[in-house]
Amino acid sequence: MADVEDLSLSRRDLMAAGAATATLAGSAQAASAAPADAPSLVKVAFEVNGREQTLTLDTRTTLLDALREHLKLTGTKKGCDHGQCGACTVIVDGRRINSCLSLAVMHEGDKVTTIEGLGTPDRLHPLQAAFVKHDGYQCGYCTPGQICSAKAVLEEIKAGMPSHVTEDITKDPKLTEAELRERMSGNICRCGAYSNIVEAIADVAGGLSKGEMA
Ligand code: FES
Ligand code: FES
Repeated sequence: MADVEDLSLSRRDLMAAGAATATLAGSAQAASAAPADAPSLVKVAFEVNGREQTLTLDTRTTLLDALREHLKLTGTKKGCDHGQCGACTVIVDGRRINSCLSLAVMHEGDKVTTIEGLGTPDRLHPLQAAFVKHDGYQCGYCTPGQICSAKAVLEEIKAGMPSHVTEDITKDPKLTEAELRERMSGNICRCGAYSNIVEAIADVAGGLSKGEMA
């Protein structure tokens, strides 16, 4: 019968052998997993604020991250990263989108406008000036998205696109407070500056339809 010392040696040997096997198995697994984990990189070219940009990106990169992390255009904000807050709103080929919900590689050849492309501190876009005038923000985190969205909203109304609150969809929508609030409802403001935001947008549009108060 083996004595205690022999048994103890055997256990140590067994544990060492087990650890070595586990390490080998681990490396084999890592080696075989490596290709699947490697990022798939592609080139994507689009225009951002009037400038041609070509980026080599992981195919999983969102348009929001491409703008913020690769082009350093940090005016566009990341709020929820889930399509729920509107902080990441940019304009692509004239339409507003949540850039957190869109992969950058889907935008080959597109024209993207961010808040940086609307105005500068010296030459504010009329909507930017109106937000200042009407106190349409507090912390300002949602503001770039609000302004990009508002620009597209005014164009949608001008183009006759109805919304859920348009009373008669056979006629051009009126610029009412209800229309503005409905169309801006995808842009959340945790500071609650909604009334002033409506006033700012209405001001740029030349006022609400007769009888409508912001
Ligand atoms: S960050 Fe895109 S909707 Fe919130
Ligand atoms: S101004 Fe603070 S979230 Fe809108």
